[in-house]
This record gives sequence, structure tokens and C-alpha cells, in this order.
Amino acid sequence: MKESPKQTKALERALARPCQPTYDITKSYEWNYRFGPGFKGPFPPRTETGRPVRFLDFEVASRIGIAAGPLLNSKWIRLYSRLGFDILTYKTVRSAKRPSNPKPNCVLLDTGGLIGPDDLDRTLIAGKKDAVDMRDITITNSFGVPSRNPNIWQEDVQKAKRAILPRQVLIVSVMGSSEVYPDIAGFTKDFAVCASMARESGADIIELDLSCPNSNAAEGMVYRDAGLSSAISKAVKAEIGVTPLFIKMGFFSSREQFETVIAANAPHVEGIVGINTLRMTVLKASGEPALGGRPQSGVCGAAIKLCAKQFIGWLIETRKLNRYDFLAVGVGGVMTPADIDEFLESGIDAVETATAPMWDPYLAYRYRLSHGNAGAG
Ligand SMILES: Cc1cc2nc3c(=O)[nH]c(=O)nc-3n(C[C@H](O)[C@H](O)[C@H](O)COP(=O)(O)O)c2cc1C
Repeated sequence: MKESPKQTKALERALARPCQPTYDITKSYEWNYRFGPGFKGPFPPRTETGRPVRFLDFEVASRIGIAAGPLLNSKWIRLYSRLGFDILTYKTVRSAKRPSNPKPNCVLLDTGGLIGPDDLDRTLIAGKKDAVDMRDITITNSFGVPSRNPNIWQEDVQKAKRAILPRQVLIVSVMGSSEVYPDIAGFTKDFAVCASMARESGADIIELDLSCPNSNAAEGMVYRDAGLSSAISKAVKAEIGVTPLFIKMGFFSSREQFETVIAANAPHVEGIVGINTLRMTVLKASGEPALGGRPQSGVCGAAIKLCAKQFIGWLIETRKLNRYDFLAVGVGGVMTPADIDEFLESGIDAVETATAPMWDPYLAYRYRLSHGNAGAG
């Protein structure tokens, strides 16, 4: 449908503002879950003119998505589906209720430029005041992977599935809880149980969070352990059958370790997504941890782009060399339409972003406009 001149003007005014957060980082996760997202519109028109893109057995309107994180529940999924993001990931859930870490959960950082693959031992200082340019937004976050009880999130995933539009897909991210199941067999089974619950609720694709830097070491480092990660992906695949399975990886410093992990998981998965946030030490200027008592937290946004690009480059190369058939989904430091182009041109199948749409809900639309409003295939 064509917009009226009034709607066009309103949209122009909205697009002129570069940063307009929908997630309030001064408030708790719980507050944002209940009262967010903070978006007042207007909505961009949905153009269905472009050719749809094949994404496994699905047709999607574009290869632009939102990674696990900012979409806390079905209200957030509904909003971002209307904003033109076509691959939507429901924030990671667990098989039992878990509260969030206390606020602050996100703070802005001044990293002094990009963080290179050799910089991960650096200590970062939090305290940047305000975000005015998307290319300058880097944050650290620490939620601890909170979850509602399954009966609540399962019903809400059903709602999210009903809320998305034609040519969109819903990914549900799940995770096992090693504090509840410290033994490997129990932990592995917990992933399968949670994945099965997400499948029952109508997820199009299940994603395993094997790489959260804010959970305990056992949960967060799973992705670097070829034996454990592949035991989990194999068990989940056996449980969910034909429902596609993605795994979410973090950054690798070692190419050899990366190759071993990918080889072990490739037979069991339909997609590999990376990278998760970078686990780094983040302090306030006073020397205290930036996020209440947690000196290490996940860093994401603009500054992690180089690390994400290294991961994606390796993923594309190893897929080609070994003729793996999984989809490659790139995430990390994608803040602008130019970044989306750069990532898609590297040969990945889809690009996702997490930090950027929290400050720029119009990113997918800006991308379409930068391509003459065509579909973003
Ligand atoms: C607010 C927030 C919450 C996140 N929560 C999750 C999560 O629950 N599960 C997960 O796999 N990744 C989570 N992430 C990581 C993102 O999916 C993504 O991998 C990372 O932020 C890098 O992308 P970006 O630079 O576009 O933010 C979260 C990121 C943010 C910003």
C-alpha cells in the first residue's frame, strides 16, 4: 500500500534521527521485558516486490535478521518483524526459570576503535555517556541468560510465531543449564529437552547457544570443545528430527581448534551462526567492574567487527574446502547498511545484528532504501 504524504514526512523525520533506542539500558532486563520495546513509530512500508530468498526450505523477504538477544519476547518479535527484519531470533530460553543478573545489564564503552583478534586481553573502560553515531556504539552486556518458566515462554513463542509476517522465519535460541545439571549426560539432555519444547511451540529453526560469555565457564565455553559441542548438537538433532538446527559460536583465536569444532558439528547442523559477544574485562574508571561485581562480560557492537569478519572468513573457507552444506550466518559489529553489504558480499547466507537494532530500529529499512527500496536479497 502506498503511504500518504503525511506518512512519508513522518518517516523522513524518523529516519533523520540516527539513534533512537527501543531498549532502555538504564532500566533492568525485567523492566524491558514487561514494558518494552520503546518504539513510537512510524512504521516503514513493507515492500514485497523483491524476489524472495531461499533460506533452507523457507522463503524469506531478505537475508537480514536479528540475533538472539534484543528480542526478549513476542512483543519485541512483532515490532521488529514490522520493521522489516525477516530472520527473527527469540532470546535464549532455558528448561527452567532463571532470573536475570541485576542491572546494569548493558553499558556503553569507549574502546578507542576496533578490537582486533589479538586484543582480547585488553581491559576496557566503561563510561561513554551517550550514543550519537551508530558506528560508535559498542556495549558490554551481562544478563546471565534469564528465562521464564517453559509454560510461559512456550505460550509466548506461539504468540511470536503468529505475529511474524509471510516470508519471515522465527528462530528460537535455547541453552542447557550446567548449574542444574553438572554432569555431562544431564547437561546434554537438558539442551535436547529445551530444544524439544521450542520445537513444540512452533519454532521454525532451533538455535543452540553454545557460547554465552556471561554464563558460568562450563556453559559459555562449550563451543570450543569439539567433543562436548558435537555430543550436544547430535543429541538435539536426534530429538528434533527434521526441524532445522543452528549452533551459535563465539570467537576462536586458534584456526586449528576452529576447524576441529566445525568438522565435529557439521554432520548434525543446518546452520552455524557467529560470533557471540567477546568475553573481556570491562571496568569503570574507578577500577570496579562495569557490571555490578562481574569483571568479565560480553562485548558487542561496532568494535567487534574485525573479530566477526575473521570468524566468517574462516567459516566460508572451511565450508567450501570440505563441502559442508550448512548455512553460514554472520553476526558481530554490523551497524550500518554498508556493514550489511560488506558481510553479505563475503559469501555468508544471512546477516544478523543485535546491538544495532536496539539503537536503530530502522536499520533494515535503511538498507532497503540504500538499494533503491528493492527486496534485500
Ligand atoms: C542485549 C543483548 C543480549 C544478548 N543475549 C544473547 C542471548 O541470549 N543468546 C545469544 O546467543 N546471544 C546473545 N547476545 C549476543 C548477540 O546475539 C550477538 O552474537 C552479539 O551481540 C554480537 O552481535 P552485535 O555486534 O550485532 O551485537 C546478546 C547481545 C545483546 C546485545
